[in-house]
Amino acid sequence: MEKLEAYIKKVEERLYEIFPDETLPQGDVIKAAKYSLSAGGKRIRPVLTLAFCEMCGGDPDKALDTACAVEYMHTFSLIHDDLPCMDNDDLRRGKPSCHKAFGETTALLAGDALAILPFERIASSKTISPSAAVKCIRALSHLCGTEGMTGGQQIDTAKAGEELSGELLLSMYSMKTSALIKAACLCGVYCAQSPDEERYVKYASEYAENLGLAFQITDDILDVTGSTEVLGKQTGNDADNDKHTYVRIYGLERAEKAAREYTEKAAAALAAFNGSEFVKQLTEMLLGRKK
Ligand code: IPE
Ligand code: IPE
Ligand code: MG
Ligand code: MG
Ligand code: MG
Repeated sequence: MEKLEAYIKKVEERLYEIFPDETLPQGDVIKAAKYSLSAGGKRIRPVLTLAFCEMCGGDPDKALDTACAVEYMHTFSLIHDDLPCMDNDDLRRGKPSCHKAFGETTALLAGDALAILPFERIASSKTISPSAAVKCIRALSHLCGTEGMTGGQQIDTAKAGEELSGELLLSMYSMKTSALIKAACLCGVYCAQSPDEERYVKYASEYAENLGLAFQITDDILDVTGSTEVLGKQTGNDADNDKHTYVRIYGLERAEKAAREYTEKAAAALAAFNGSEFVKQLTEMLLGRKK
C-alpha cells in the first residue's frame, strides 16, 4: 500500500531527532533505545495517529511529533515485555531483544527513557496547540497506566498458569493492547483540532477497542501458527510461559472467527470519518498479516 509506505517513511525520518549524542557518558541507554526503535516493526500505531488526524480534517504532518511519541511508548512496552521477568523473549523485530544486545539493566533503562520521552516530544511540538498537546499527553498517560497497558500487562503476567475467565481475558486484551492503539488514534483526533472532536473521539475509541482485540487475537494465533523467521520473534513463547490466550481458551478456529468479527466491528466504526478507505484497508490487512 503506497500510502502506508509514505506514512511510515515520514515517521521514520523524524523518529530519532529527540536523541542526544551517543558519545555522552550515558550513551549506552541512548544506543539501546535507538537500537530497539530502529530494529523494524510495522509502525501501525504512529500510522494510525497520522491517518486519524487526516480523517478528522487535520494536516497529518502536524501530528508527526505525536506519532513518533506513540512509537516510543510502544517500543518501551516491547522492551519491557521481553525482559526475563516478563515474557523472557530473546528475539524482537528480527534481532536479539534489547536485553540480549545491551544487558538487562540498560534495556530496563532504555524502556524507562522511551516511556518518558513521549511527553517531552509532545509538549515540545511546535505544530500543535498547547491544548491539543495536553489532550494527547492525558490520553497517552492514562491509556498506558494502571487502567491501560500497564494494568493489562500485570494481569497477563500474574495470571499465567492460573485460571482466567474468558471475560477477564478480553478485559486484559483491551488493557494491554487496545488501550495503546486507542491512544494512537485519539492523539490523531486531538492533533486535528476539529469542531467535531467529541464525536470523532467516540468513534475512534470504538474503532481502536475492536481493532486492538482483533490485533491481539491475531498475535496469539501467529504465536502458534507463524514462523519465527517471518514474525521476527520467538513462536511458541505463549505456551512456554503458560500464558492465557484466546487460542488456548477457545481453540484456533474460534480465535480466527473472533478476530474477523472484531475487525468487522472496527471497520464499521470508520463510517463516522471522511476518507476512511485507507484505514479500512489497513484494518483488513492486519487481519491477514503474517507478522
Ligand atoms: C506487538 O505489536 C505487541 C502486541 C500488542 C501484540 P506489533 O505487532 O505492532 O509489533 P511491531 O511494532 O510490529 O514490532
Ligand atoms: C504484548 O503482548 C502486549 C504489550 C503490551 C507489549 P505479547 O506479549 O503477546 O506481545 P509479543 O507477542 O511479545 O509481541
Ligand atoms: Mg507479553
Ligand atoms: Mg511478549
Ligand atoms: Mg504475543
